[in-house]
Parts: sequence; structure tokens; C-alpha cells
Amino acid sequence: MHGLLRFGGSLLLASVSVQARGIPTIPLVDTDGKLSLSKISSIVVESQYAESTDTKGETLIPPSLRSFAQTFAEDLRGLHINVSCKTGVNASAGSIFLTLGEPGAYLDVAGRESAEGYSLSVSNDSIKIVGASPLGAWWATRTVLQQAILGNGTIPYGSFSDTPGWKTRGMMLDAGRHYYPPDFLIEMCAYMSFFKQNTFHVHLSDNLYNNIKIYSRERSLDLYARFRLWSDDDAVAGLNNYKNESYTREQFDEIQSACAARGVTILPEIEAPGHSLPFVQWKPELGLEDDLSLLNISHPETIPTMKTVWSTFLPWFHTKTVHIGADEYTSEVNDYNIFVNSMADHIHNEANKSIRIWGTFPPNYTDPGYINIYKNVSVQHWEFFEDNPLYDYILNNYTILNSDDTYYVVNKWSGSYPPQVNVSATFIGNPNTGGGLWYPYVFDAHNSSNNPTRDEPLVLGEIAPLWNDYGPNATVYSETFYAWRRGIPALADKQWGGNLAANEFDAILEELRTYIPGQNLERPIPSVTSTILDYSFDEGYPTGSAVSDRSGNGYDGNSDCSRTEKGSLLVKECTLTTPLLSKGRDYTLTLSFLLSSLGNTTDAMLISGLDSTLMLTPSITLFQGGNHYRLNSTLALNQRLDLSIIGRGNQTFARINNGTEEEFLTKMGINGERFEWGPMAIEAPVNKVGGENAGWRGEIYALKLKNVA
Ligand SMILES: *[C@@H]1O[C@H](CO)[C@@H](O)[C@H](O)[C@H]1NC(C)=O
Ligand SMILES: *[C@@H]1O[C@H](CO)[C@@H](O)[C@H](O)[C@H]1NC(C)=O
Ligand SMILES: *[C@@H]1O[C@H](CO)[C@@H](O)[C@H](O)[C@H]1NC(C)=O
Ligand SMILES: *[C@@H]1O[C@H](CO)[C@@H](O)[C@H](O)[C@H]1NC(C)=O
Ligand SMILES: *[C@@H]1O[C@H](CO)[C@@H](O)[C@H](O)[C@H]1NC(C)=O
Ligand SMILES: *[C@@H]1O[C@H](CO)[C@@H](O)[C@H](O)[C@H]1NC(C)=O
Ligand SMILES: *[C@@H]1O[C@H](CO)[C@@H](O)[C@H](O)[C@H]1NC(C)=O
Ligand SMILES: *[C@@H]1O[C@H](CO)[C@@H](O)[C@H](O)[C@H]1NC(C)=O
Ligand SMILES: *[C@@H]1O[C@H](CO)[C@@H](O)[C@H](O)[C@H]1NC(C)=O
Ligand SMILES: *[C@@H]1O[C@H](CO)[C@@H](O)[C@H](O)[C@H]1NC(C)=O
Ligand SMILES: *[C@@H]1O[C@H](CO)[C@@H](O)[C@H](O)[C@H]1NC(C)=O
Ligand SMILES: *[C@@H]1O[C@H](CO)[C@@H](O)[C@H](O)[C@H]1NC(C)=O
Repeated sequence: MHGLLRFGGSLLLASVSVQARGIPTIPLVDTDGKLSLSKISSIVVESQYAESTDTKGETLIPPSLRSFAQTFAEDLRGLHINVSCKTGVNASAGSIFLTLGEPGAYLDVAGRESAEGYSLSVSNDSIKIVGASPLGAWWATRTVLQQAILGNGTIPYGSFSDTPGWKTRGMMLDAGRHYYPPDFLIEMCAYMSFFKQNTFHVHLSDNLYNNIKIYSRERSLDLYARFRLWSDDDAVAGLNNYKNESYTREQFDEIQSACAARGVTILPEIEAPGHSLPFVQWKPELGLEDDLSLLNISHPETIPTMKTVWSTFLPWFHTKTVHIGADEYTSEVNDYNIFVNSMADHIHNEANKSIRIWGTFPPNYTDPGYINIYKNVSVQHWEFFEDNPLYDYILNNYTILNSDDTYYVVNKWSGSYPPQVNVSATFIGNPNTGGGLWYPYVFDAHNSSNNPTRDEPLVLGEIAPLWNDYGPNATVYSETFYAWRRGIPALADKQWGGNLAANEFDAILEELRTYIPGQNLERPIPSVTSTILDYSFDEGYPTGSAVSDRSGNGYDGNSDCSRTEKGSLLVKECTLTTPLLSKGRDYTLTLSFLLSSLGNTTDAMLISGLDSTLMLTPSITLFQGGNHYRLNSTLALNQRLDLSIIGRGNQTFARINNGTEEEFLTKMGINGERFEWGPMAIEAPVNKVGGENAGWRGEIYALKLKNVA
């Protein structure tokens, strides 16, 4: 093995080496030449390791080396590189050879062996990947893809090794105060994985802020509060009443395995004893009188109830650590500590898992009457007003995860936090070393005495959270992706130990985002010109069921509607469908039509798609994720109209004929005190017009979609 092996960003071996671009950055590479991936026709997995798995990571369902190789082969096909995937004993010309090596060669910042390191060698006819484990080899495949994208299908020759500095790298999503469909979570994992993040912490229960200054008991018991797992087990009957906004065991399994297939572990969180309205709405006697969102831990049924909840769901979770929340509890500290330790014991005894909590009440080893939390409970620091990670935890031998609120996002609007990750903060580092770049051991970029040294082994890494403080109608699903679109790669670079500079970041991301496999979060639609789809039903238009697209893209559709003499479609319990589903930012969707009658005045559907529906309620409305976003305008009957829906950046507008644009906004309820209006970025519904239950009749003259706004 090479002599000089360090965590990300180090260089070794190659004669004339330059820092290679990539997110995270990789060490590398000589400048003698490049291998064209068009020369690659197979992936060969070393036979003796084909079924090996990594048992050192958090996941309990680690994919085998062969399985990672198969996913890699699919990803390469997306780059039009057709490779077979087989097992073999050595590298040969035209192959990418995947094997495992000595984990001792790959060390993290604290000098410990890492299962996630890898070596990559690129010669003039083949590529060799050596992983410290199958997961390490998987990260090497991300490097190959990234370099191929940045190099227009070629990879520079050379050899290097690369190891993440920190073991826990990822994001946390508040899926308690906002539902997300399983596919969204799976696609987010794919996006994270491309940048070598390995942890997706999913917060599965929560409630809107229980404003005790304003809310009556009845109002608190009626406040939006959700528990997102759906079980038919009698033990939890009544806990969850919203099956359409929950994950069944089968769905949760699918999420966990699809994410694991790309090296990302789902770390589940069920939050108590604070943020606990879902449990109090189920069993009101367990809430504290003066704040029903907090559990009354001294009630004899509280700890047994939470043990029952965990016993029900522990078998669902395929990870060595689970998160019990324990955030922002403001009642008795000793009750809280007893609660945490009871859950730690229970979860350890039932499932042999460790627990994690949010930093809330720091330990006290000078007060003999104080019950301290077990040292094997890991703590997720988020704010210095709750704890000082170095003095309270590290010096007392607790492992700690950096989730400092420097990188917090509150979706759409907040009095305290930005609606997107503060990417520029990732380029402001440790004051101990005169600034530079931020890394997970930097808890405080303003006061160096609050930071341990870079090689501190008790720092697990970093997880950056996104919170949905203002609930389900503040955002559509994809707005969460956009809140993180730059943040994930920016954080992932530093979580790994990379050293990408601020002035390089956006340009590299722009190149890389042309192909991030396993996800379609931006909902692009390939198109030859700015016109994606053009159906125009005018005189001389063929009368069969095929609908031809005049855009040049060939997105031909279908219709069983009859035609008027002039060629337009007569909408009367019939359908016009396109082969498209949904279009993300930017777009202009135009429907030229005439409404002759509105059979359903509250829910007529003009056009629907994968993500949204354009409705008349009777005002012009976009419907997404169970929420209506309404304009004041209605549409006149018996007049030909051009209705355009325009998605421009993070805003959405409607325009009738050539009138002025009206913006779709959301009205967010702020803690029961007031409202805030915010923009909405809703995908265009582009799949189906009409249908049996459309609730309107009329004529369609044209349907057009452009990728400009
Ligand atoms: C990919 O290669 C395999 C043989 O290795 C061949 O059967 C298949 O048709 C190829 N697919 C494409 C799309 O070229
Ligand atoms: C690789 O293995 C094959 C089959 O065992 C053998 O024929 C070939 O010579 C080997 N090639 C090299 C470069 O070792
Ligand atoms: C590839 O590299 C080998 C070893 O350095 C050399 O012998 C061979 O000629 C090279 N082949 C090509 C096509 O450049
Ligand atoms: C990328 O490679 C293709 C051929 O594989 C070539 O046609 C194209 O010009 C290259 N683009 C750039 C920017 O080098
Ligand atoms: C720990 O408890 C002692 C005794 O009650 C108290 O004086 C001290 O301030 C506490 N320390 C911390 C860090 O809270
Ligand atoms: C910290 O924990 C380690 C390993 O668990 C142990 O060896 C060490 O003695 C502990 N140190 C202190 C100060 O408690
Ligand atoms: C919307 O986009 C603008 C311009 O890019 C940006 O300044 C603003 O923060 C974005 N708003 C949200 C809620 O993301
Ligand atoms: C209007 O459409 C909605 C949604 O499809 C449906 O629930 C409702 O019953 C319809 N109302 C009428 C009057 O048809
Ligand atoms: C789930 O169903 C309820 C009741 O019909 C509805 O109010 C809610 O909007 C639905 N949720 C989603 C995400 O569609
Ligand atoms: C709709 O009308 C209400 C009441 O007149 C007004 O407050 C609101 O701003 C209007 N909304 C839009 C989107 O124009
Ligand atoms: C809108 O304006 C364009 C040109 O400015 C014109 O061709 C078109 O007929 C107008 N549409 C309507 C419905 O008025
Ligand atoms: C969003 O939800 C709040 C309750 O939290 C409600 O007051 C508001 O009217 C809703 N806004 C929309 C656009 O549905």
C-alpha cells in the first residue's frame, strides 16, 4: 500500500499531482493522460469478496460488494456506458475491478481504522477499486462517476487513497410536521449518496408549536401533530389516525433498503418527552397540565407507554442506533434523565441498540444528587444555550454529534433561521487555525476555546437538520430538496474532510448536477428547443386517438375525446393524456380551452400530474400534497381562454389570456399568533386532462409546455 494515507484531501504517490475537483474533493492526480470510460465494458467483482458486507457501519442491512457493483453498473448505464457486472479473480483490460483491502490502511481524523476508505487506480485500459469494505468501494464508485462527469467521459490516470475524516455525515429531515412520500426520501438518499453522505436522520413525530399563552386545552388537543409510522398492532391502536400520511412497515422497509443500497442509513427518531403532542392526543392523561406537548414523566403510565411504542417499532428499524428525541423538555430535569436512561435500558434490552438524544440538560458530576445520563447515550448538540459540547460532553467522555444551528433550515419562513442552508458558513472555519474551512469538530466558529482538536475521537461527525416549523402547507415536497440542493454538497465536502473552496463550489456543482443517479428531484424534461410539448387541435388535425406533439420531441399523447368540426377536443367524460408526468422549475404550461359547464364547483380538475393538480374550486387553484393553494380569480364560462401556469424560480403564477400574473401564495399560521404569506414553488401538472371525475365540460384547443418562464 501507499505510504501516505490520510483522510480526504491528502495527496500521495502521483508524480505531478494536482488537487482534483469533485465533491467531496479527492486527492489526486497526475496529468499524464486520461482513460476514456468508453473503453470500459465490464465491472468485475473479486469473487472471494462478492458477498462480503460491511458490519462496522450503522446499518444492519449492509449491501454486499456485488450488490453495490450492480447499482454502480446501472448508474454507468445512465451515462451511456453499457457495462456487464460479473465476478472474477483479477483486473483485465476494459474492466473496473472491485476488491477489498486492509482496513488498517484507511484512517479517520482520530487515527482509527475506517471501513469507508478506498483506493482508486486508473490506468490506460482499466480501473481498480480497493475498498476498506464494500461501503468504501461504493464511495469510490461515486468518485468514478463524478470524475467521468467532470471529465466529459474521461478519468485522469493515477492512484490515490481517500478516507472520510468523520463517520457520521448527513442530514436530518423533520417528517413529523410535514409528510413526505417514500419516493421523496429514497431520492434524497440518492442525492446525498452522490456526495458521500451516509446518514439520513428522519424525525418521525412532532407537533406544531403548542403556544400555551394562547391555546386552550381543546385547541392544543386539536393542533397539528403527527406520528408517521402506521402499525395495525393493537398496542398502538389510536396513536396514528392518518394512514395516507404515514409509512407502513413495508414502505419503511423499502425506504431503508433503497437508501442502504446507496450507502445511506436511515436513522429513525421518535421524539419524547418534549414535542410529544402525538402521544398526548392519543392519551391526554400523559400530558403536563401547563403544556400538553410535554409528557408528564411522573405519571405512572408515561414510561410504560413509550416503552410500548418502542417495542412495537424497534423491529422495523435496521440500524444500530435509534434516536429518542429528548429535545427541548422544560420540566423537571431529573424526570428527564430518568426517562432517557429508562429508554436506553429498554431499547438496549429489547433490541441491543444504542440511543441518541438532542443536547438538552447537560450532565453534572459535582452535584451528588443529580442523575446523569448514561455515557453510552450519544448526544446531538444543536445550540450553545442548551449545552457546551466540549465542556459538558466531550470532557465528560460522551460521544457527540455536531448539529449546531449554524446550518439549520426552517422551510420557507422563520423568525430565526434561513430557508436554505447557509452555504457560505461552510467556508468559514476554525478560529484556532486562523479561519480556513469549517469541519465537523468546529462547534463554534467564533470562539475557538469551545472547540476540541480536529482529531478528537468523541466527535462523531455532523448532521444538518431541516425543520418544518410552520407545518404541512408551508412547502411542497420538492422545496425541501431545493432548501438543501447546495447545502448537501457543501456540507458533504467538509463532513468528509474535503477542502473545496467557496469560489469553486457552484461551478463544480453545476457540472455534477447534470447526472446524479437514482433521483429525479428537479423534474426536468429533455427537450430539443424551449418548447417541450405542443398539442394544437385545429382544423385538419387527424381525428384518431393518437395526439401528435409538434415540439419535435415526440411526446405524442392519446385521447378518446371526440372532435368538433373545427378540430378541437370536446371534453365530456373523456381524457387527453400525455407521456409526461410533472415539470419542475422553470416552466410555462398553457391550456387553451373553453369551459362550457362546471359540474363540480368545488373540485373541478383541469389537468393533473404526478405532483400536482390544477383545479377550479371555483377559483384557480393548485393542489399538492393534500393542500389547496388558491387564487382569487375564477374563469369565465363559454369563452375561449388561454390559462398559463408559470413556474419561475421558487414562485408560481397564473395568467389568463394576456392579463397580469397572479401569484400562488401560502398563508402560514405562525404559532396561532398571526399569518405570514410565502411564495410556493409547485411543479406543473402535465399528465392528464379530463377524465370521468374531472367535473367540467368544454373544448380544448391547445396544450403547450415550455421550459422557460
Ligand atoms: C449492453 O451490452 C450487452 C452485452 O454486454 C448487450 O446485450 C446489450 O444489448 C447492450 N445494451 C445496450 C443498450 O447497448
Ligand atoms: C486473469 O485471470 C484470468 C483467469 O484466471 C487469466 O486467464 C488471466 O491471465 C489473468 N490476467 C492477469 C492479468 O493476471
Ligand atoms: C498502457 O500502459 C502500458 C504500461 O504503461 C503500456 O505498455 C501500453 O503501451 C499503454 N497502452 C496504451 C494504449 O497507451
Ligand atoms: C465531450 O466528448 C464528446 C465525445 O465523447 C465530444 O463530442 C464533446 O465535444 C466533448 N465536450 C467537451 C466540452 O469537451
Ligand atoms: C452542578 O451542580 C452544582 C450543585 O448543585 C452546582 O453548584 C453547579 O453549578 C452545577 N453545575 C453545572 C454545570 O450546572
Ligand atoms: C472515557 O472512556 C474511555 C473508553 O470508554 C475510558 O477508557 C476512559 O477511561 C474514560 N475517561 C474518562 C475521563 O472517563
Ligand atoms: C426564493 O428565491 C430567491 C431568489 O433566488 C431567494 O432569495 C429566496 O430566499 C428564496 N426563497 C425561499 C423561501 O427559498
Ligand atoms: C367534486 O370532486 C371531488 C373530488 O373528486 C369529489 O369528492 C366531490 O364529490 C365532487 N362533487 C361533486 C358535486 O361532484
Ligand atoms: C390525507 O387524507 C386527509 C383526509 O382525506 C386529507 O385531508 C389529507 O390532505 C391527505 N393527505 C395527503 C398528504 O394527501
Ligand atoms: C384575494 O383576496 C383577498 C381578499 O380581498 C386579498 O386579501 C388577497 O390578497 C387576494 N389574494 C390574491 C392572491 O390576490
Ligand atoms: C396574447 O398576445 C399575443 C401577442 O402578444 C397574441 O398573439 C395572442 O392572440 C394574445 N392572446 C389572447 C388570448 O389575447
Ligand atoms: C395553512 O395552515 C394553517 C394552519 O396551520 C391555516 O391557518 C392556513 O389557512 C393554511 N393555509 C393554506 C394556504 O391552506
